[in-house]
Amino acid sequence: KKRIVSGVQPTGSIHLGNYLGAIKNWIDLQNAYDTLFFIVDLHAITLPYDTQQLSKATKETAAIYLACGVDPSKASVFVQSHVRAHVELMWLLSSTTPIGWLNRMIQFKEKSLKAGDENVGVALLTYPVLMASDILLYQSDYVPVGDDQKQHLELTRELAQRVNYLYGGRKWKKLGGRGGAIFKVPEPLIPPAGARVMSLTDGLSKMSKSAPSDQSRINLLDPKDVVNNKIKRCKTDSFPGLEFDNSERPECNNLLSIYQLVTGKTKQEVAEECRDMNWGTFKPVLTDALIAHLHPIQVRYGEIMSDASYLDSVLAEGARKAADIADNTLKNVYQAMGFLR
Ligand code: TYM
Repeated sequence: KKRIVSGVQPTGSIHLGNYLGAIKNWIDLQNAYDTLFFIVDLHAITLPYDTQQLSKATKETAAIYLACGVDPSKASVFVQSHVRAHVELMWLLSSTTPIGWLNRMIQFKEKSLKAGDENVGVALLTYPVLMASDILLYQSDYVPVGDDQKQHLELTRELAQRVNYLYGGRKWKKLGGRGGAIFKVPEPLIPPAGARVMSLTDGLSKMSKSAPSDQSRINLLDPKDVVNNKIKRCKTDSFPGLEFDNSERPECNNLLSIYQLVTGKTKQEVAEECRDMNWGTFKPVLTDALIAHLHPIQVRYGEIMSDASYLDSVLAEGARKAADIADNTLKNVYQAMGFLR
């Protein structure tokens, strides 16, 4: 079976972008692939954070995975920091990662520019190396993510190839290893729709956990009246009718795409259904569709959170299975890099 891994940071609330761009797509994949889904708590400390909140947010994120339909009898669900190999491999990989590659990362540039060099921890720069470890440890074939992770995936691929070239093949065999490729080179799986869910208050910037205004996003756990209010107040335009793919109408494209994804309709169907609507008729339709989609997730979330020992056992079992795979890769890397074993 081909293998798939992916993860979300336990920072802020999980929103519709995380869901439509990533988590929702995991659900179908778990039936056909060997899947591992983790909560990347080690990534969540790369910007200032609240120590009182980290473990709570980690559990909540795990509960959201399950509430969205991740099935622990099919997928391994675990917390990144519970599997030591992630940090260990990161150190080994960082010796082979050119600083220039990291300096070029858009997310690093954006985030560090805001805070300034004296305030940014080194981990923000090396963040993509940890992400590469998350993926390469499991010899993953595919990584389902939103569009904003594309560049990190490219770096992961380049790093895998570099390590395979520098330490793999016959060199590794001479050291007593099995030779060949140390890492599988993974591919991103970016969904045709939902890969870039935009802000409700600005159709040109992506929906994000860190945007200061909560009005800009729909969180998966937003109650009905909050969803209703956010859609009522979201940015629209004054063109007649509704349409996809008009670059002058980014908000319209975004809201129709969201509608398409939460109803499971095709783009064509939505285009026809909404062509002659105005905002006044579309907004309540969208609100109802969102609430209908989110409500069962919220009910399941409540049930999962009310049984703490269940979640703990899922995460413990997930970490055990993950560690088995990860430790094996790590062992090979140490050997291929020439360490005394
Ligand atoms: P994070 O926590 O920022 O986001 C989690 C997932 O949600 C997607 N996403 C979006 N998709 C569509 N529209 C949006 N507005 C939107 N915002 C976020 C992201 O693309 C991502 O798939 N570095 C990663 C976490 C990570 C990871 C990994 C992912 C760490 N190690 C290994 C895959 C494999 C991150 O910060 O995602």
